[in-house]
Amino acid sequence: MSTISIIGSGGMAKAIGGRAAKAGYTVEVISRDPAKARALAEKLAAGATAGTYGAAPAGDIVILAVPYASAAAVVAEYGDALNGKVIIDITNPVAPDLKGLVTPAGSSSAQEIAKVAPAGAHVVKAFNTLFGPVLARGGRLDAFIAADDPEAKARVSTFITNIGLRPFDLGGLHMAQTLEASGLLMIGLAKNGAGTFDIALNVDIDSNRLQEGSKMLGNEEIIRELYAAAEGQGTDIEKFVSMFSDEGYMRDVPSGTEFRGQAVGDSIAGLVNAFPDVHRELLNIYVAKNVVVVELAIRGTHKGELALASGTLAPTGKAIDVPCCDVYHLESGKIISFHCYNQPSVMQQQLGVGLG
Ligand SMILES: NC(=O)c1ccc[n+]([C@@H]2O[C@H](COP(=O)([O-])OP(=O)(O)OC[C@H]3O[C@@H](n4cnc5c(N)ncnc54)[C@H](OP(=O)(O)O)[C@@H]3O)[C@@H](O)[C@H]2O)c1
Repeated sequence: MSTISIIGSGGMAKAIGGRAAKAGYTVEVISRDPAKARALAEKLAAGATAGTYGAAPAGDIVILAVPYASAAAVVAEYGDALNGKVIIDITNPVAPDLKGLVTPAGSSSAQEIAKVAPAGAHVVKAFNTLFGPVLARGGRLDAFIAADDPEAKARVSTFITNIGLRPFDLGGLHMAQTLEASGLLMIGLAKNGAGTFDIALNVDIDSNRLQEGSKMLGNEEIIRELYAAAEGQGTDIEKFVSMFSDEGYMRDVPSGTEFRGQAVGDSIAGLVNAFPDVHRELLNIYVAKNVVVVELAIRGTHKGELALASGTLAPTGKAIDVPCCDVYHLESGKIISFHCYNQPSVMQQQLGVGLG
C-alpha cells in the first residue's frame, strides 16, 4: 500500500497513523521536533518513517494534525512543497472556552487552509468529528468528508475505507463549516449529555427502507454493509442473509460449495467461530453497473475449532492474513451471486497445517 504523511506527532497523529500502519500503509510522521517524529514512527510500525519538517512529504495524502491556530501557517510555510498533495484538515477550531468557533464568519478552517495552499493542492476536511482515543481503539466508525475536488475526495474516501472506517460525503468544502460545528457539537455532547468522550457520530441507515425508496443505496455501499455484518466484532448473520435475493447464493470457489438461503449465513458463522476477531480489510473495490469486485485480506486469530476438508482443526492461536477476491452480482439492491475466491492453502500454511 502507499505512503501517508502526517504533519504533527500528537494524539490524532498517533490515532490515524496507528490505523493507517495497521492497514498496511507506510506512515511518514513529520514534526517540527524531529525527535518527536522519530518517537511516534517507532511506535507505529516497523516501516514507519520520520520525515523532514518543511520538505516535500513522501505521501500523496498529507494529514495536517496540528492545532487550528497553526494549521494555515504550517501550510503557508510548506508552500510549494505541498503542491499536488491532498491535504486533509482535521482541525476543530473551537474557542478555548468552548462557546463557539474561532474561524472568520462564513468560513472554516479548511477554507482558510485552502486559501494559503498551493494551487495544485486540494484540501479535504475529514476526521474532525472523531475523538482520538475512540479512533485509536478501532472499530468501524463513520467518517465525514467535505471537499471540492472529486478526485481528492475519492482518494480520501478510499483511505478512510482502507483504515476500517465508513466514509460519508457531505458535499463541497463549504460543508467544512458544518463539520467544524459538528466537532463542537461532539465536545458539547461529551461534556454534557453523554458525559463521556467515548462517543462517535454514526449514520443509522435502514438498508431495507433505502432499497425501496428513491435514496436507494449504491451497490458499493450494499457490499460494504455486507462485510460490516460479517465482522467478528458485531457479526449480524440475519442481516447478512437478508442482503441476498431469494435465489441468491454464495459459492466458495476453491471447494465448489454453494450456500443458499439461511445456509449463506453458515459460511460466515463458521469463520467467526474459528476466528472471533475476523476482519476483512477491503483493499480495492471495483464497481461496474451491477457487478462489484472486491480485493481483500481476511485477517483474524485462530481461537475456535475450524472445519477443514481434512477434519476439524483445534485452535492454534495463530494469526491469518489471507488474500482473497470476491465477485458479486446484484439486482434491485439484493445480491444474486457471491463468488468467493479465497485461498485455503495460504490459510492452512499460516495455521501450520500440513507442514512437516
Ligand atoms: N484530540 C482529538 O480527539 C481530536 C479530534 C478531532 C480533531 N482534532 C484536531 O486534530 C488536531 C491535532 O489534535 P491533537 O489532539 O493531535 O493535538 P496534540 O496532541 O496537541 O498534537 C498537536 C501536534 O501539533 C504540533 N504543533 C503545534 N503547533 C505547531 C506549529 N505551530 N507548527 C508545527 N506543529 C505544531 C505539535 O507539535 P509539538 O509537540 O512540537 O508541540 C503536535 O505534534 C487539532 O487541530 C485538533 O483540533 C483533535
